[in-house]
Amino acid sequence: MMILNTISQLNSIVDQAKREGKSIGLVPTMGFLHEGHLALANAAKEENELVIMSIFVNPTQFGPNEDFQTYPRDLKRDTQLAESAGVDIIFAPSVEEMYPENGGISIKAGRQSEILCGASRPGHFDGVLQVVTKLFHIAQPTRAYFGQKDAQQVAIIQTLVRDYNFPLEIRSLPIVREADGLAKSSRNVYLTEQERSEAPAIYEALIKAKEEFLVNRNANAAIELASNHITRNSSGKIDYIELLAYPDLKEVTGDTNHFLLASAVFIGKTRLIDNIIFSFE
Ligand code: PAJ
Repeated sequence: MMILNTISQLNSIVDQAKREGKSIGLVPTMGFLHEGHLALANAAKEENELVIMSIFVNPTQFGPNEDFQTYPRDLKRDTQLAESAGVDIIFAPSVEEMYPENGGISIKAGRQSEILCGASRPGHFDGVLQVVTKLFHIAQPTRAYFGQKDAQQVAIIQTLVRDYNFPLEIRSLPIVREADGLAKSSRNVYLTEQERSEAPAIYEALIKAKEEFLVNRNANAAIELASNHITRNSSGKIDYIELLAYPDLKEVTGDTNHFLLASAVFIGKTRLIDNIIFSFE
């Protein structure tokens, strides 16, 4: 496995792979890898001849009061995990390498970014689209791999790719969870022991709400059930719990048959997101 820090190094590898007609799988990450990231790498390995994983904590998707500085980083450990998952190349550029100068052109995520996480993190998805656009152009993947853990993120990236004809396929993979149901996340390391023991209440609440909705088809009642479960079983402060049509993220109507039940909850200072995607059948 190779670790590359510059765009020109990666360009040479990608050019060579393209000349040889190889398929390229790209797994964009911010590092501090866990089984969620590795599941994406495994899928990329199965489906492509060359697997590139980017590890880059992207400053442009963090708000001024968010955790860019303190976001967990451990490139040495990530390197070992990525290698064991079959990654061929780690692309780990510096901030200066990715953003050498600001030409003043921005990418604006649309309607799908104004709700859920976008409502509490203004500009977040613009930053995500900026970095994935750059990564797509640099790595020229045949397929790019994202997790449903960030269901809104992958829906917005799908829209970018569709609307602007990016010549690649977006692959979206299920959430990998801890044994007690908590969605794996690099940010779980922020949790104290007490907070960690409360955190599974989020997924429990989503399951209860989904079951309620499938029986009674009443979104408000389902969301209330979820929110009561979280407040009764944890010290969590709910940012949002919402049921929307997926992947367009529009309001649920009588015709909707594909749903996203999504939540963001502060457990202590840590904001945890989770969701369930489901259909009636
Ligand atoms: P990061 O949070 O590191 O996540 C990288 C990828 O791993 C994302 O596609 C995310 O949805 C997926 N992922 C995280 N936890 C997961 C889990 N428990 N199960 C399955 N997949 C999981 O998301 C980002 O980085 C950034 O926004 C990025 C796309 C790299 C752009 O900077």
